[in-house]
Amino acid sequence: LSFLVGGCEEKSEPEKEIVIGFSQLGSESAWRERNTQSILEAAEMTDYKILFANGQQKQNKQIKDLRSFIASRVDVIVLSPIVETGWENVLEEAKEADIPVILNDRSIVVDDPSLYQTLVGTDGIAQGRRAAEFLQKKFAGYEDSIEIVEITGTPGSSSAEKRGEGFREIINTDPRFSIITSENGDYMLSKGKQVIRKLDQAGQLENIDVIFSHNDDMTVGIVEYLETTTIEPGKDIVIVSVDAQQEAIELLKAGKINCTVECNPNSGPKLMTTINHLLNNGKLEKHNYLSEQVFSEFSDLAAIKDRGY
Ligand code: AHR
Repeated sequence: LSFLVGGCEEKSEPEKEIVIGFSQLGSESAWRERNTQSILEAAEMTDYKILFANGQQKQNKQIKDLRSFIASRVDVIVLSPIVETGWENVLEEAKEADIPVILNDRSIVVDDPSLYQTLVGTDGIAQGRRAAEFLQKKFAGYEDSIEIVEITGTPGSSSAEKRGEGFREIINTDPRFSIITSENGDYMLSKGKQVIRKLDQAGQLENIDVIFSHNDDMTVGIVEYLETTTIEPGKDIVIVSVDAQQEAIELLKAGKINCTVECNPNSGPKLMTTINHLLNNGKLEKHNYLSEQVFSEFSDLAAIKDRGY
């Protein structure tokens, strides 16, 4: 860059490229793929360089990836943490190296809140509550007991823990509802299918009224399995899911699931404005939640626009 000052040409320093180390936790779901794309696209639009690392669903791999970002002296670290706990040591190392950390999607539990700057993500408690509120509406006026099977996301992940918590907060206020079992499907289609097959073979799907599945990929697996049985998904068993990816919207339109609570994967633009703000010494809120809605059999299904993931 050069410009004229008082008639003399001055040379300015070329602007330093901002490098972001982005530790994504894996590629377990369509939601996750969209989330990764959203961040890569937004960084490109903002002219930030991304060093990308896929944690392959392992906290150890994510910790190694963070250490390599620290060694490369990136300007900012974006971390999508697979689980809530166990991050202190590596985040201390980032702090000592003066590299700010921003959380994407999921939250962490640490004693020292200065170990990360902020979270740009989704509100799992609200999502769990919304799933339960749909059930209250669906079963309004129903007097019998309502038996629920819960298929959870990755144990120890904030999204699974909080969805379960928000769901129970509402369900436990209504004596008609009971969660008869809760099984881990790890947010994966194949595991969702495997878990529901196992429950069916153990005779645990008889008399079940509801399946609450923590994400759409597992829900697709659950529906695929139920379609091989005499149980009609969405009719014999009410199915409530989370994410609102296109495949789930199609199942909703076909009457094979009853509700999907949105989990917004498009955090890229907000992350980039947050990073910009941070690099300009702006003050940050500790949580930045993305806006989300609910799609259910009570929605105007024809009006739902293509979800893009
Ligand atoms: O943490 C968000 C969850 O992780 C999404 O609901 C799920 O699809 C993903 O794998």
